[in-house]
Amino acid sequence: MSRSFKLQNIPQLPPDPLFGLKARFTADNRSDKVDLGIGAYRDNNGKPWILPSVKLAENLIQNSNDYNHEYLPISGYESFTKSAAKVILGDNSRAINENRLISIQSLSGTGALHIVAKFLKDFYLLNDGTGEPPIIYLSKPTWANHIQIFEYMGLKVEFYPYWNNETKSLDLNGFLKSIELAPSGSVFLLHSTAHNPTGLDPKQDEWLKILNHLQKYNHLPLFDSAYQGFSSGSLSKDAWAVRTAVDDLQNLYTFPIIICQSFAKNVGMYGERVGAVHIILPRDTLPLPDLKLNNAILSQLSKIIRSELSNPPAYGAKIVSKILNTPQLFKQWEDDLITMSSRIMKMRKLLVDELILLKTPGDWSHIIEQQGMFSFTGLNVNQVKRLELQHGVYLVGSGRASIAGLNESNIKKVAKCIDEVVRFEY
Ligand SMILES: Cc1ncc(COP(=O)(O)O)c(C=O)c1O
Ligand SMILES: *[C@@H]1O[C@H](CO)[C@@H](O)[C@H](O)[C@H]1NC(C)=O
Ligand SMILES: *[C@@H]1O[C@H](CO)[C@@H](O)[C@H](O)[C@H]1NC(C)=O
Repeated sequence: MSRSFKLQNIPQLPPDPLFGLKARFTADNRSDKVDLGIGAYRDNNGKPWILPSVKLAENLIQNSNDYNHEYLPISGYESFTKSAAKVILGDNSRAINENRLISIQSLSGTGALHIVAKFLKDFYLLNDGTGEPPIIYLSKPTWANHIQIFEYMGLKVEFYPYWNNETKSLDLNGFLKSIELAPSGSVFLLHSTAHNPTGLDPKQDEWLKILNHLQKYNHLPLFDSAYQGFSSGSLSKDAWAVRTAVDDLQNLYTFPIIICQSFAKNVGMYGERVGAVHIILPRDTLPLPDLKLNNAILSQLSKIIRSELSNPPAYGAKIVSKILNTPQLFKQWEDDLITMSSRIMKMRKLLVDELILLKTPGDWSHIIEQQGMFSFTGLNVNQVKRLELQHGVYLVGSGRASIAGLNESNIKKVAKCIDEVVRFEY
């Protein structure tokens, strides 16, 4: 048998849209260029910000007697995964008290989603003998990588309506309708706060409708928590939907709730890849006297980790664990979250004030109402292109702007450029 490696036929893929944008920005030699592309926090000087809580934790770790770079266990750094669960679920979570929680460390939020995709594919199957895995419903629009992660695992992806581009608000009826129409036993991926790319989150009464509807129509909620603390500055406020689902509504559910948690943004350690998966068992699996089911699930998740990365990266997990388990550092981190979230809120307000001053055609108030790192500005593809080519202001083709890229020095320029492209006749 012979095989030929058709090297000449390997197609060149286009660059990842976001990282391609970054490359064009870097290559641009205009001195007043502005990067509103990638979702990473910048301080008022336009520079990456190392959180004071992170610096303090790093010092403590490096000066301690047991500082080392040994391997972690396959399931990760236990003091990190345990305290990470409390960050998202709260200190007094019923799920934790009732031993219904399984947690494992992941390669940030992306790795968490990937583990969950594999786990669903292996174990959340139709009972009819076909063993078909579930359909994953994603918001339209969503973080582009969501689609890729689930499709890569061979799962079927569908979309639920989310952003209504006429009203620039939530299409709640469309969302609820697609919950009704989805085959029973589907998975709905929910952005727990600071929706990417729109910055639009359901209000509490809308969340209740969504979560109750998922229960009524028998679908599994998969929360993606990548921006906890970025919306309001408060960890508990930004976890409201997750905690409500787990502690108030899961009584009613007969299936698990799954959380993919990233610490990339809220501790500003994008490149250290700190994250976790949390699986919360439904109450009807109680009693769990010997944690047999928990251990079985953990063993399956561990097998995925072992075959893909052997064991997760240690350094970032140790830093986050130090912050979460040292009261003064935790307090500092809460202050750091307020620093980041309030600067972003201020930039939203300033941008809209400038647009109003300029009498830019259109209503821009949605930019203030949106939350977290991003704003879906409503600018169209041509306007975004013109912003980049004529003005050196870079944002994603969908019109998503990373508000953290704005600061007091560049905001007037950005507003003026937006004004120009909105008025330009195409
Ligand atoms: C919605 C959403 N989920 C998950 C992630 C995962 O990020 P990371 O893998 O860096 O934790 C991101 C990052 O941009 C995101 O926006
Ligand atoms: C504002 O951001 C720009 C990049 O857009 C940067 O060059 C500048 O230093 C930042 N801050 C201040 C205070 O100028
Ligand atoms: C929504 O926006 C897209 C792209 O900007 C546009 O093509 C479409 O017509 C808009 N839809 C509505 C209903 O306005």
